[in-house]
Amino acid sequence: MISNTKDYPFKELPFLKTNLGRIEKAISRSLPPKSLSKISKAIHYSVLNAGKRIRPQLVLLMADSLKVNVSSKTIDLMAASGELIHCYSLIHDDLPSMDDDDFRRGKLSCHKKFDEATAILAGDAIQPLALEILTTIEDKNLTDEQKLKIINLFARACGPKGMVEGQSRDLDAEGKKITLRELDEIHYLKTGKLIEACVESICSLKDDLPKSHKKSFLDFAKKFGLAFQIKDDILDVTGDEKIIGKPINSDSKLKKASYPSIIGLKASQKRAEKLCNEALSILTKLPYDTSNLILLSNYIVLRNK
Ligand code: IPE
Ligand code: IPE
Ligand code: MG
Ligand code: MG
Ligand code: MG
Repeated sequence: MISNTKDYPFKELPFLKTNLGRIEKAISRSLPPKSLSKISKAIHYSVLNAGKRIRPQLVLLMADSLKVNVSSKTIDLMAASGELIHCYSLIHDDLPSMDDDDFRRGKLSCHKKFDEATAILAGDAIQPLALEILTTIEDKNLTDEQKLKIINLFARACGPKGMVEGQSRDLDAEGKKITLRELDEIHYLKTGKLIEACVESICSLKDDLPKSHKKSFLDFAKKFGLAFQIKDDILDVTGDEKIIGKPINSDSKLKKASYPSIIGLKASQKRAEKLCNEALSILTKLPYDTSNLILLSNYIVLRNK
């Protein structure tokens, strides 16, 4: 188990730092030149900053674990795609018509730094860009069918049966009493689906992956995604704004349905840890080197940002 240290997580999880260099390069290469337009400036502002890059980390760690036989450039494009979709969702999530948050990743939110229309359009631009970069994959070890599958997985994750539906239900639930089961579904849709796509897209690169192994990886992704969003809800109450880089108590101000508001803080942390332990137990049973995925899973429930 990792402990909370000052320069955590890199001190104890050095592989995250190594991957981060690669991830940042892949993301910046995928963007239009900053000088292109106002929207391009807003895209650079909102994408190239202090995000934890958990989704691309997951893509890279999954690829290492499964030892997939494709080029590192292919993996980089998939990692960048997952992060771009996430970045677009954050820009829109902060808008006044949604969570109305003025800070993100330690800086003014996109609509505050620029204006609302620019933030909407920057998000609108990033979403198709995430899919466009997947169409540029050129890899002799990848069939057209596999390429299409990857695009399909990422598109579905953020579409009307994925993140967008989760975000809509999250807004509808404000000020209402909902069940834990309904909240789990919201969290799965708004956050879990994209995390699952990061994991499943790597599984889809491996033709000979037994069905049962794929199922285990997807179960792992579901538990990881839910634990991740529960911890996000907890940090909204207990976090340090300077560390998390976004306002605390944003959920309670909007009377959001969140884990702490439904079952309390202690039970929320317990639930996140239980999900993490279940995820670890799935990973340890798989015949691959899942050690770094295990460390990342521990990190997401212990993190303070
Ligand atoms: C915040 O995501 C929003 C959720 C979906 C929980 P992250 O905690 O991954 O935010 P960044 O990318 O590190 O800023
Ligand atoms: C956002 O969840 C989920 C997204 C799909 C963007 P939150 O609204 O809880 O994320 P934060 O707390 O603003 O980062
Ligand atoms: Mg939100
Ligand atoms: Mg929000
Ligand atoms: Mg939150």
